[in-house]
Amino acid sequence: MTDTINVVETAPNEQGYKSFSIGGFTFERDEYFATITWPTGTHQMAIDVFLRATQRDVAWGFFYGIVNFDSVFGTMNHYGNVDMFAGRFNDAYRRAEMDYNENFPHDDLIGCFEAILADWTNEGYDPFAAPQETGQPFGPNNGSNMDAITRERVVAQRMVSVPGDEPLRTDEAGFPVNRGFADVPQDEPTIEAEPGYEDEVCAYNMYAYLSRSDVTWNPSVVSACKESLYCPTSEEFILPVIHGNDRCEWFVQLSDDIHWDVEDRDTGAKRSRVIMKPGDVAAMPADIRHQGYAPKRSMLLVWENASNRIPEAIAKGELSPRPVDF
Ligand code: PHB
Ligand code: FE
Repeated sequence: MTDTINVVETAPNEQGYKSFSIGGFTFERDEYFATITWPTGTHQMAIDVFLRATQRDVAWGFFYGIVNFDSVFGTMNHYGNVDMFAGRFNDAYRRAEMDYNENFPHDDLIGCFEAILADWTNEGYDPFAAPQETGQPFGPNNGSNMDAITRERVVAQRMVSVPGDEPLRTDEAGFPVNRGFADVPQDEPTIEAEPGYEDEVCAYNMYAYLSRSDVTWNPSVVSACKESLYCPTSEEFILPVIHGNDRCEWFVQLSDDIHWDVEDRDTGAKRSRVIMKPGDVAAMPADIRHQGYAPKRSMLLVWENASNRIPEAIAKGELSPRPVDF
């Protein structure tokens, strides 16, 4: 693994934004775009798209497998160290030999992305929020929004609502019911425990919990059974990354609709469109990448297995890339 790699920052440019370099990559922003440069090429992304993707990559600690910011740029998690790439999972870049990849220690790259987010996110803009629920990310440097970009991800050790674990969301704690979920009942279950078990039986209303999420496309771990994690999330607009799976994952559509574009993970070739309606269940294979579109605020249960043995077992052919064969 590589030694510590420093982030080099420049003084602010005319629009007030610093540029950042780590390894062979340089990141610059102007009023509308992020520009990424590497030894064999350069790439531009709209700044809102770049900030939403960077925010997810930071909050999820590079997530499972590959986080494509778009069809060119992204990161691949090796759990401890991480690849940052351009054109690596893009057939045209590969064939033209324009692709580039560099490995970084986890903490160094997270530190670089955190510094970029802090400098490039303006006051009033929240990269986690739905576009209709936040301000504009464009224009010259105008303050910051540290509270929004340093939110802790919800990671329950056992289950939301268990004493000492993640608390319920309430008005008082700053989590009002979202405008899209005004009709979601807010009552909590009645628990009738056998005498002597009163402290050991817990239950909560997961729909009410999700109806109060203030972020989009940000799965929360609400319960853990060994390595099996329930990661529900509330969605609106577009998943800010094109996620390249390194394991199978299950989707349960809890409310409203999400449309998924599914592509080959390595080449980006189109594989399918999946239209999910309430109650639909999909098994996403381990060799795909996908991006979801939610026309309205909706609830999705993402069910993950966090075992670090899975990616290798799939790569070796010991596990199928499909969770089920029909
Ligand atoms: C996924 O890549 O599977 C994913 C990520 C974030 C979400 C939903 C699904 O909010
Ligand atoms: Fe995924």
